[in-house]
Amino acid sequence: MHGISGKVAVVTGAGQGIGASTAMLFAREGAKVVVSDVLDDKGAEVVAAIKAAGGDAIYVHADVSSEEQVKALIDKTVQTYGRLDFGINNAGIGGLSAPTGEYTLEAWNKVIGINLTGVFLCMRYEIPEMLKTGAGAIVNVSSILGWVGFANSPAYVAAKHAVIGLTKTAALEYGPQNLRVTAVSPAFIQTPLIENAGITPGSEMYSGLAQMHALKRLGTPEEVAELIVWLCSDAASFMTGSAVLVDGGYVAH
Ligand SMILES: NC(=O)c1ccc[n+]([C@@H]2O[C@H](COP(=O)([O-])OP(=O)(O)OC[C@H]3O[C@@H](n4cnc5c(N)ncnc54)[C@H](O)[C@@H]3O)[C@@H](O)[C@H]2O)c1
Repeated sequence: MHGISGKVAVVTGAGQGIGASTAMLFAREGAKVVVSDVLDDKGAEVVAAIKAAGGDAIYVHADVSSEEQVKALIDKTVQTYGRLDFGINNAGIGGLSAPTGEYTLEAWNKVIGINLTGVFLCMRYEIPEMLKTGAGAIVNVSSILGWVGFANSPAYVAAKHAVIGLTKTAALEYGPQNLRVTAVSPAFIQTPLIENAGITPGSEMYSGLAQMHALKRLGTPEEVAELIVWLCSDAASFMTGSAVLVDGGYVAH
C-alpha cells in the first residue's frame, strides 16, 4: 500500500484481536509501530512477532482512559521515532450485558471511559503531533453498533455511536490541515472480546450471530486490519469524516 512505509503508527489495544492484526499489517507494509495495551505480555508478544518478521516496533503500556498515560504514550512515540503519522484508536471493551433499566452507573462509566473518553484522549494528544508534520490519518474503531442498537449493551452502543460523531467533528476541524479522520464499523469479529463473552465457534450463540450477516459468518481481525491500514494509505486520500462498514452485510437488512 502506498504511503505507509517509513511512517509511524500508534495502535491502542494492540495486544490481541483487531489491534494486533492491524499492528502486524502496518509493520508488514513497512511502518514503524507503537504497540500499546494494558496487557503487557500480549503486547510484548506482538512486538516480538513484528521484529521476528523483520519489522520495527516498540511496546508502550497505556490505559486509554487515563489522560496521563495517553499523553505519555504519544510522548514516547515521538521521542522514539521522531513523529506520528497514524493513530489507530482501537482499544475497547464489551462491558456489562444488561438492559438499560438495570445497567449500573459503574459499568456505564467503565465502558464510556475506555470506548469513548479513551478515543477522545488519544485524538487529543495525537492531533497536535500530526499538525507538526502537516499531515496524518486517524482511524477510530467504532462498530456496527455505532449504526444500530443492540439489546443489553446500552453503554457500548452509546459509546460506538458517539465515536462516529467525534470522528465527523474532528474531520471537519482538521481537514484544512490535511489531517484525515475516519472510523471503521466492524460487525462481529472472531477475537478474544467475543470469545470472552462465550461466543465461540460451534456454540449456538455463534451460529445465531453468523446468520445475522449476509455472508453467514463472523469476520476475522485481518479483514478489519486491511481496511484500517488502507484508510491510512494514499489510496484513501479523499476519505475523511466517514464511518466505513466492514460487516459482512450485517447492516444491509
Ligand atoms: N470483536 C468484535 O466483534 C468487534 C466488533 C466491532 C467493534 N469491535 C471493536 O474493535 C476494537 C478491538 O476489539 P477486539 O475484538 O480486537 O477486542 P479484544 O478484546 O480482542 O482486544 C482489545 C484490546 O484492547 C485492550 N484494552 C482493553 N481496555 C483497555 C484500556 N483501558 N486501555 C488500553 N487497552 C485496553 C485489551 O487488553 C485488548 O488487548 C474494540 O474497540 C471493539 O469494541 C470489535
